[in-house]
Amino acid sequence: MKDPQIGKAVPRKEGREKVTGSARYVDDLTFKGMIHGVTVRSSIARGRILGIQFGEGIPWDEFTIVTAKDIPGKNCVALLIEDQPCLADQFVNHPEEAVVLLAHADKYLLEEARRAVRIETQPLPPVFTIEDSLARKQVIWVEDNIFKAYQVEKGNVDTAWEAAEFIVEGEYETGAQEQLYIEPQGMIAQAGPGSRVTVWGSLQCPYYVHKALVRLFDLPKEQVRVVQTETGGGFGGKEEYPSMIAGHAALLAWKSGKPVKIVYDRAEDMAATTKRHPSRTRHRTGISRDGKLVAMEIDFTLDGGAYETLSPVVLSRGTIHAAGPYSCPNVRIRSRVVATNAPPHGAFRGFGAPQSVFALERHLDRVAAAVGLTPEELRRRNFIHEGETLAVSQVVREKVQMDKLLDRALELSGYHEKRKRFATENARGPIKLGIGFASFLHGAGFTGSGEEYLASEALVTATREGKVHVLAGSTEMGQGTNTIFAQIAADALGLDCQQIEILQPDTALVPNSGPTVASRTTMIVGKLVESAALSISKTLQNAGLLKAEYGSKEFQDACCRYIEKFGALQSLVKYQHPQDLHWDDGTYQGDAYGAYAWAVYVAEVSVDTRTAEARVEDFVAVQEVGKVIHPVLAAGQIEGGVAQGIGFALYENIVWQEGRMANGQMTNYIMPTSMDVPNIRVYFEEIPYARGPAGAKGIGELPLDGTAPAIANAIAHATGADVRAVPMTPEKLMELLESVHA
Ligand code: MTE
Ligand code: MOS
Repeated sequence: MKDPQIGKAVPRKEGREKVTGSARYVDDLTFKGMIHGVTVRSSIARGRILGIQFGEGIPWDEFTIVTAKDIPGKNCVALLIEDQPCLADQFVNHPEEAVVLLAHADKYLLEEARRAVRIETQPLPPVFTIEDSLARKQVIWVEDNIFKAYQVEKGNVDTAWEAAEFIVEGEYETGAQEQLYIEPQGMIAQAGPGSRVTVWGSLQCPYYVHKALVRLFDLPKEQVRVVQTETGGGFGGKEEYPSMIAGHAALLAWKSGKPVKIVYDRAEDMAATTKRHPSRTRHRTGISRDGKLVAMEIDFTLDGGAYETLSPVVLSRGTIHAAGPYSCPNVRIRSRVVATNAPPHGAFRGFGAPQSVFALERHLDRVAAAVGLTPEELRRRNFIHEGETLAVSQVVREKVQMDKLLDRALELSGYHEKRKRFATENARGPIKLGIGFASFLHGAGFTGSGEEYLASEALVTATREGKVHVLAGSTEMGQGTNTIFAQIAADALGLDCQQIEILQPDTALVPNSGPTVASRTTMIVGKLVESAALSISKTLQNAGLLKAEYGSKEFQDACCRYIEKFGALQSLVKYQHPQDLHWDDGTYQGDAYGAYAWAVYVAEVSVDTRTAEARVEDFVAVQEVGKVIHPVLAAGQIEGGVAQGIGFALYENIVWQEGRMANGQMTNYIMPTSMDVPNIRVYFEEIPYARGPAGAKGIGELPLDGTAPAIANAIAHATGADVRAVPMTPEKLMELLESVHA
């Protein structure tokens, strides 16, 4: 048997292709007779469409032109509900809404043509902020502008205030954030009446796109095929929007009879596709004389943009994570996501949790100050332990050691020494240093009964030559799916990673393993791969073809003999929901997630009080994630997530003008570069999770949750500024600094 592959930094499966440039992204593909497609969008945030004018000087008869009337099935991007049109018909509800599609072989003429289309509209009054939407300044969604609301109740908050020695309140805000995957969104479609619809593209969830196309074209499932091409990052941004572009490309292909490619440039991608939901959170917290949380009342609101899309799910995760890794007997969380006339906000790494965790962890530092405890002492007195219950009344059954994580993080960062030293050093000059931390948890997998509904499947097959194939709908987007599945299958079969091949996700070939979201791939789908691989070797052993101990030669012989005798050698495994996990969607109580990753992050910052620029100087990320399958990829997940968190905290500021992103270029939407990111020091604690493959839990989104509040707490420590919002740009910090010195 081979040495274990899990726990080792084996070469990345698709690494060679990516590094040598032979990997094929959607824009690398061309098809015979292929033409290009573009989207003509609304010019206003809200209004009635009166007509479409095709300007002079363009040979319009050479163009394929598609409007809502050309849609063969239902005009929607099918997701949770079918509210978002694929092409606006009578009304537009945000300024980037697609109204007309054009296709032509000449890209440059196409661009001129796009500019020559005028959409005539009668404007209606729009709503742009959470406040205006809640106040129903205009009702733009059903009766009350609310897409979805949740309420979590634990104990009795109303009577708990009496036991509180201190009550601390606060309001916190986070801004929208653009995913900024390296590869912008794109699709190629081939279609035609009477034939099937096939799309190739950059995407996270092949079966989401499949579902949307089936509805849009009203076709039987077998006649729609979705293939994932090499994907240059998704970060949640390619969870839902690819269904829109796929629909557009397929409609143009359907009408023209030719393959159609739509690839967004960066500006269009930034303007039109989904971003992180802006948020506003209010906290009211009761603390006893001895520093125990006695009541937490949390009010959490997200700006959903113009259509519901995935917002209820993002809100759900944000709500469940809003009270953090603490044990408090009385908790009330009320949350809602509201409609505005901005492009729909969507999934972005962390899925609502970075927003609510920012508010909580910044708030707790303020609570600590009000009560007269250090930030760490307040957390220590309230950390959750095994057997205690989270806000949704989930009993934590795993081993959890927040104290230990905190000790380690504070020690590795030199927290105590720096906390003291900076206080004296800061008196001397304009550069102020500060250090702060955040402690948090992140649940992996779909929430509550979500995994049960998904009922994901994975397939493992073996060939006569002893090659093992993994077939899953899970996509590789840089986070390591292919390598991790190979390691898991290899160890289950006692083989080398090189003997495992991961098939390209293609709905015509691979089973539906659910979407590649919610940090679920390793923990949930990886477990299916592990079981399927184990059952292959069981099958061979039961057939008397393989002994308990074997090498790769024996495995190959056994596969060959088995296939000759019985035919295909394969195992399809379907997700089984653990019997002891219960969730109630009505009361929002129960086992929200099968497992959580736990973490403490420490940020050290410097603030130049003359320019109000904050820089992250050092970063320590300590987390418990179950078994680490691939040390380099795992550390990469944390480093990349922290870098995105630094952007969220300090730099990435979307300037909104009438519901439109006004700074949709990378020259003025500032993301951190390597010059702005310190050496991120990543440490793992490993407590194997009994239900994860080889003991692994999900980690993909975790790092986004704790980074921004750790930085905000460090800025507050450095300057005394009461940071309540991110991104904390120099402009905003300057105002805060002025109020400190006023
Ligand atoms: N890492 C890279 N390199 N590229 C990505 O697109 N997406 C993130 C995270 N890490 C992403 C990434 C998001 S939003 C999620 S939900 C998880 O990876 C999904 O992958 P997993 O299930 O394998 O964790
Ligand atoms: Mo990740 S935001 O769940 O794609």
